[in-house]
Amino acid sequence: MVKQRIEIVRGDITQQQVDAIVNAANTTLLGGGGVDGAIHRAAGPELLEECRKLGGCSTGQAKLTRGYRLPARYVIHTVGPVWHGGSGGEDELLASCYRNSLALAAEHGVRSIAFPGISTGAYGFPMERAARIALREIVRFLESHDLPERVICVCFGDQALKAYQAAWAGLGER
Ligand code: AR6
Repeated sequence: MVKQRIEIVRGDITQQQVDAIVNAANTTLLGGGGVDGAIHRAAGPELLEECRKLGGCSTGQAKLTRGYRLPARYVIHTVGPVWHGGSGGEDELLASCYRNSLALAAEHGVRSIAFPGISTGAYGFPMERAARIALREIVRFLESHDLPERVICVCFGDQALKAYQAAWAGLGER
């Protein structure tokens, strides 16, 4: 049941026709490279103006803004952990990003949401491990919440797509 509410696609998150997209930001929330840069470019300068008023964000937490010129109504900015080998609580912090982003989405009545692979670029989190955590947390959240109705994991390239498909296959029946 819950698995029918999750999709894995290859693509660019800025193009997704959903109520909210998630940004893999940094603690300043003032923009950067990777998916953060792509989202700010596509949303336009009003996004940075709103982000300046938020006072940053701690690792593992999430904050919501409007989506401006994006197809998505909202952007949920979350800050993933920098990978330092795995013994610094990185797994739990990454799990918190997914949980807190989904909770914020549900609070705002978001029916559809798209996630990138948080921390799997500049922050160096191993892709397969991150994909397993992402899918596990999304499934757990959906099991106890009606919103969001639909979650899309957007894979930027073949390596990400393969990792998500492998993690999906390892989930078991839900
Ligand atoms: N759509 C979907 N996924 C994307 C896109 C896109 N348009 N562009 C990149 N990705 P990263 P992080 C994937 O580095 O590791 C920023 O500078 C990318 O292939 O964007 O959490 C922030 O400001 C990778 O799998 O985020 C922070 O300083 C994933 O998105 C820092 O990078 C995340 O890669 C955050 O690092």
